[in-house]
Amino acid sequence: MAYLGIDIGTSGCKVLALSETGAVLASHTATYGLDQPNPGWTQQDPAIWVEGTRSALTEVLKVTSASEITCIGLSGQMHGFTPVDRDGKVIRPAILWNDQRNPDEAAEIEYLAGGAQSLLSQTNNRMLVGYTGGKILWMRRHERELFDRVYKALNPKDYLRLVLTGEFATEVSDASGTGLFDVRARDWSQSLLPKLPFSADILPDCHESEVVTGQVSKSAAEMFGLTEGTPVIGGGGDAVIQTLGSGVAQPGVLQTTIGTAGIAAAALETPEMNPEGRLQVFCNVAPDLWHCMGVSLNAGGALNWLRATQGGRDDFEAMVAAASEVPPGADGLLFLPYLNGERCPHPDPKARGAFIGLTARHHGAHMTRALMEGVSFAIYDMYRLMRHMGLKTELIKASGGGVKSQLWRQMQADLFDCPIVTTEGAAEGGAFGAALLAGVTDGGWADINEAVGCCHELTRDAPDRANGDIYRKSHGVYESLYETLKPSLHALAELEAGQ
Ligand code: XUL
Repeated sequence: MAYLGIDIGTSGCKVLALSETGAVLASHTATYGLDQPNPGWTQQDPAIWVEGTRSALTEVLKVTSASEITCIGLSGQMHGFTPVDRDGKVIRPAILWNDQRNPDEAAEIEYLAGGAQSLLSQTNNRMLVGYTGGKILWMRRHERELFDRVYKALNPKDYLRLVLTGEFATEVSDASGTGLFDVRARDWSQSLLPKLPFSADILPDCHESEVVTGQVSKSAAEMFGLTEGTPVIGGGGDAVIQTLGSGVAQPGVLQTTIGTAGIAAAALETPEMNPEGRLQVFCNVAPDLWHCMGVSLNAGGALNWLRATQGGRDDFEAMVAAASEVPPGADGLLFLPYLNGERCPHPDPKARGAFIGLTARHHGAHMTRALMEGVSFAIYDMYRLMRHMGLKTELIKASGGGVKSQLWRQMQADLFDCPIVTTEGAAEGGAFGAALLAGVTDGGWADINEAVGCCHELTRDAPDRANGDIYRKSHGVYESLYETLKPSLHALAELEAGQ
């Protein structure tokens, strides 16, 4: 018996098979890129998600046979807008979570909702630029002929669900990230949707995350090598379901993620933690919990960028090894990670990245170290916001590809002054959480709490107080830079856009 998790990420698709004892039987990632046709735009052709799934699954099925798979869970990059017609055909490339094209439409939805506070009372969230709602309005305004053919607006993993099962459906965590969802009521917002200039029918049916939403169809079984009739559960948005994959099933533990994005997240007993809307408070994949997080748009993605600018010569291990020779504080070099605008704590599509404090003494390893510190500072900013909202935590659980770097983990332990652990499967991100949830639905575990018992601790790093003091001093300078530089960053963004 095995549970399958499929994660449609931003840089690749991961497929993972989990045993009924929670051991990873097989895991494979097929990588792909994204298109940036204009400054601030990010798009993907959903065909690459399907091909990525097919190719990663082919590898996994060499180890785990399709007949062993009793349930499938889906995870995926959140907020993306995949418009499909009545036959399920994709109408235009999907507009992704880190796309910044629609500040006007996001603001318009807030206006139509009766203002930011009114929107918060209806959905529990502001309409951040990355959320799906503004993207739908953008397409309606700028591509009206195409828009008139849209039957459903699907998030990326829900498009894969359509291909696997023929069903147009979503679940509560991804629905939360559209900004059109009443997170308290765990349903589409009955008060907001009638105020918007597109029909609520464009949104798919929404289920709790552990509910079976369909079965693998005959054509999908042939395409992917799966068994026809295998149940597919709701699953979850990656940033939410990966908390499960790192064993965070209950409030009291902070999860940090370094994937393409940087995330600070925690489980909540009630949704009431977002009075100013500076954080994202969504439905958790557990039916009786909510989820609070801050998301910085550029984390592992920034390291990827630096590597590419250096000609892609060094692998990540070599870059990080060189950075570990540079002392904490990077000899006075700071990095602002706003390479594609920013979301939290600065919701600003025109924010831009920067190295500050360069001298002729600095070399490439300093830049890598400063970049890793800047990403940690951005996550720390979000953690402080969560603490300010009343979150209490004495332990960090790290997840995402960034957990592989001991330097990055230790940096967080020192800066946050808190022990940091990694658990089995945490580096596998959303796919691991999705497979665990599939196991819960299949009856392999009594509930989510029992399932996360499989997430055994692998590493634990204690904070180093002296290094923590250095980081927090650097962070003090870092923190002041956004406001100081904002007019210049905006002017540069406008120059880039030819305005
Ligand atoms: C969550 C978010 C990102 C994406 C991509 O709000 O924007 O985590 O889901 O991973």
